[in-house]
Amino acid sequence: MSKTITIDGKVIPFEDGQTIMDAAMAAGVYIPHLCHQPEFTPHGSCKLCTVKVNGRNCSACTYPAMDGQEVLNETQELIDDRKRITQMLFVEGNHLCPGCEKTGNCQLQAVAYHLNMLDNHFPAFYPEREVDASHPEVMIDHNRCIFCTLCVRASHEKDGKDVFAISGRGIHKHLIVNAESGLLKDTDMAATDHAAHICPTGAILIKRTGYQVPIGERIYDHKEIDQVSLAASGSRPVAALPPSMAVGTENIKNGE
Ligand code: SF4
Ligand code: FES
Repeated sequence: MSKTITIDGKVIPFEDGQTIMDAAMAAGVYIPHLCHQPEFTPHGSCKLCTVKVNGRNCSACTYPAMDGQEVLNETQELIDDRKRITQMLFVEGNHLCPGCEKTGNCQLQAVAYHLNMLDNHFPAFYPEREVDASHPEVMIDHNRCIFCTLCVRASHEKDGKDVFAISGRGIHKHLIVNAESGLLKDTDMAATDHAAHICPTGAILIKRTGYQVPIGERIYDHKEIDQVSLAASGSRPVAALPPSMAVGTENIKNGE
């Protein structure tokens, strides 16, 4: 008999070793996330995926699914918390969407829309951050880094290079590259590296490609991030599970 958790009352099957995020995504349930990508070791840093598990806040991307867990995902309290977290991410950096070539393809922007974020709520920090355009093909705009570490993990786990690391703490946290000069041009970064294409914001960009896809035809211009994310994960909505696994899912089938 398969093991199950419930998410907002829906019965979700899981396999041993899966996190709550894995189980949710596989069953077609979107939990907002920014620092998580299924092919990389979870990092649990952005906290956007916070859910309530048996009454306690946990990061869905790192917390293992366990039989009988009762998970809350879409409560007003959690949605409000996620909106505040996203607002903090915006004010901690310099995210000027209309002037960013990643607009429409940016996960931070798309999550903000998904959460109906209408303003920054907090005063902007306007931190002084630099742009590293030294590399012939790849540039880093530190203004847009949210320290998700996806480039760090991609460079290490996929490219076998360790081009990136995060240094410092709190307000002094910053992305560094593996070169004495501190410049990307002096690393072994290549435009074909996985790390060059993983950034959820416009912090790492491939030069001279920014407007190849026109504004209006970009990933999130016509679809919300939950649809895009679930489609990319190849998820299988719970309502489509075989009857033997769908016990207790009537409310989902009825769209309640
Ligand atoms: S540069 Fe992009 S991928 Fe790397 S830590 Fe910053 S936001 Fe994440
Ligand atoms: S997606 Fe889980 S902490 Fe970032």
